[in-house]
Amino acid sequence: MSQRLTNKTAIITGAGSGIGSAIARLFAREGARIALFDLNTETTAALAAQLQEAFGQQCMACVADVTQPQQVQRAVVQAQDALGPIDILINCAGVNVFRDPLGLEDDDWQRCMEVNLKGPYNLIRSVLPGMLARHYGNIVNVASVHGHKIIPGAFPYPVAKHGLIGMTRSLGVEYASRGIRVNSVSPGLIMTPAAEAWLASCPDPQAERERQAALLPCKRIGEPDEVAYTALFLASDEARFINATDILVDGGRSQVYHD
Ligand code: NAI
Repeated sequence: MSQRLTNKTAIITGAGSGIGSAIARLFAREGARIALFDLNTETTAALAAQLQEAFGQQCMACVADVTQPQQVQRAVVQAQDALGPIDILINCAGVNVFRDPLGLEDDDWQRCMEVNLKGPYNLIRSVLPGMLARHYGNIVNVASVHGHKIIPGAFPYPVAKHGLIGMTRSLGVEYASRGIRVNSVSPGLIMTPAAEAWLASCPDPQAERERQAALLPCKRIGEPDEVAYTALFLASDEARFINATDILVDGGRSQVYHD
């Protein structure tokens, strides 16, 4: 075991499912103390207990809706009190909101922006003072290929993910001289419960799954671990000169101009 995060403390949002759970597992395996933030307490609490048992360091679950600044602040204090100062923040909680732009309800717009864009900011605002005081902090936002390219029929999700990449670059520059790095990862299609739910909503899920795999240069859909390893690299000191940037984890798909 390489223990790339020994003696580090990390908060991971959206840790109860998909990519967030994969990041939590990998970070625990690499020696980090972790706080798993999510809405879903049962799944998250079970995962925290399982990881603590498997790897020995402290792992805890915190109930926090990322759209609620006061809840976030309380959970961050709870995590700090239990685990120590926060070294790493992974903003992974997110929701797909795909609507016709003219049929979009205000509530859908609001939910999309609140979870995918304001949520990460709420977390950053809560951990940043502690990080600045110690002149050390690594933040990784989970953005998307939708933050780089437009897939028709996915509005307003790409608006939020473009914003998240903009926030990554802006805050990365803002705090660079004070020991803080802010980067993002942009997954392509990754097989998670959210992706499964989207496939299930298609008229022919199996045909859509095959079509999606065929679109990718590598001819397969991505796995949550493949995003987790990129987040691990960015969150670790191996990436100490990497700041205010984004890494695409999409099998090369978004570089293709024509099939
Ligand atoms: P998922 O739906 O499997 O997991 C998302 C987690 O976020 C869930 O546990 C959910 O409870 C939590 N969450 C949702 N709203 C929350 C809130 N308000 N407060 C706290 N937690 C909340 O999703 P998946 O696929 O693992 O996605 C994770 C991230 O990766 C998201 O930001 C998503 O936009 C992004 N992403 C996923 C891709 C994919 O193909 N799966 C592709 C590109 C980006």
